[in-house]
Amino acid sequence: MGVVGCGYWGPNLVRNFHSLPGCDLRMICDKSTERLTHVRSLYPEVEGATDFNHVLNGANLDAVVIATSVKLHYPMAKASLLAGKHTLIEKPMASSSAECEELIEIARKNGLVLMIGHTFLYSPVVRKIKQIIDSGDIGEIRYICARRLNLGLFQKDINVAWDLAPHDISILLHIMEEQPISVNCHGAAHITPGVEDVTCMNLNFSKERSAIIHNSWLEPRKIREMTIVGSKRMIVYDDVAPLEKIKIFDVRVERPPHYDTLAEFHYAYHYGDMYAPHINQEEPLKNECQHFLDCIKQGTQSLTNGDRGLELVRILEASSASLKQGGAPIKFAPTKKREFSISDRIVTGTPKAARHSRAKNSARKLRLTHS
Ligand SMILES: NC(=O)c1ccc[n+]([C@@H]2O[C@H](COP(=O)([O-])OP(=O)(O)OC[C@H]3O[C@@H](n4cnc5c(N)ncnc54)[C@H](O)[C@@H]3O)[C@@H](O)[C@H]2O)c1
Repeated sequence: MGVVGCGYWGPNLVRNFHSLPGCDLRMICDKSTERLTHVRSLYPEVEGATDFNHVLNGANLDAVVIATSVKLHYPMAKASLLAGKHTLIEKPMASSSAECEELIEIARKNGLVLMIGHTFLYSPVVRKIKQIIDSGDIGEIRYICARRLNLGLFQKDINVAWDLAPHDISILLHIMEEQPISVNCHGAAHITPGVEDVTCMNLNFSKERSAIIHNSWLEPRKIREMTIVGSKRMIVYDDVAPLEKIKIFDVRVERPPHYDTLAEFHYAYHYGDMYAPHINQEEPLKNECQHFLDCIKQGTQSLTNGDRGLELVRILEASSASLKQGGAPIKFAPTKKREFSISDRIVTGTPKAARHSRAKNSARKLRLTHS
């Protein structure tokens, strides 16, 4: 394994891949000698490189992790895949959907694992939320409100939605299990001209379900909150809370089904208990890194594969288009329910092994909704 980018996030990936059994972290790369020297001082046995080409050509690696700025994701991931490396790209996958499509195709043609770092889908908290929703406990989802706000870190080449919303969007799509029908986004650039530091995105889904995502680099507090409003109950997810990150409120409002006079009409408010379910303590990034290793070893598609990366980038593109049009809605063509089949396994190894595996899988073709 090799990790490229030792800035803010890369060292977390280095720490995890270094600690996972069955993984040989052989190389870390950063064009900044200062960053490279610092991270290598923590892992002196791992080779260092300032030149990305050395990662691809000189170290005999099976897999490469790309944790550089967003505009470098596409050229680096393309080079990595073309060099035959399984590739994990940090979120968001690339700067445009066209770039994502090209990367997906290269990975597919070469039978390589292409995974995107949608870290929150590996969080036990988000898994618990999905489990609660899937059990029917909160009823039908009505709307979701997500707030991810803090002071900075200001980026020069991407706005706050491209920086922070990928986490919220990945969770929303995971919960809704479909692409939105339309997206619109309002925002303002207070500090760097042309780079919005506050955005508010609206996503409309089928069955009149909707979501709001508020992102900001201009906020004194660190806020990571999501409220999921169901027809029976409501979930409040506070990722900054040290304990009780999920609270389920047994509250709801109902309209009387029919009434004859206005005097008869009144809303029915239900106020019940609140409970906080137990959540296992696991580091989401560790789960993500282990999943990448498992996909490589077993030749399977990742939960957060290129298709998941592409649908997220399409939403970010739509939000940018909407911002340019003063918040106008950008509509998506209708898509099928998200699904993949186990016969879509990535098969590595010899062509014979690939044929054998495909034949075996087609015999037990399962249709799995994204879970
Ligand atoms: N999954 C998550 O929760 C999460 C959290 C934070 C950031 N990220 C993502 O991680 C990625 C990196 O973000 P960051 O905040 O660490 O950025 P950063 O700017 O702090 O770090 C990027 C590093 O890449 C290095 N770099 C640039 N060009 C290079 C090249 N040609 N070759 C080798 N190294 C090069 C830079 O020197 C820098 O050290 C981004 O895609 C970001 O969206 C993900």
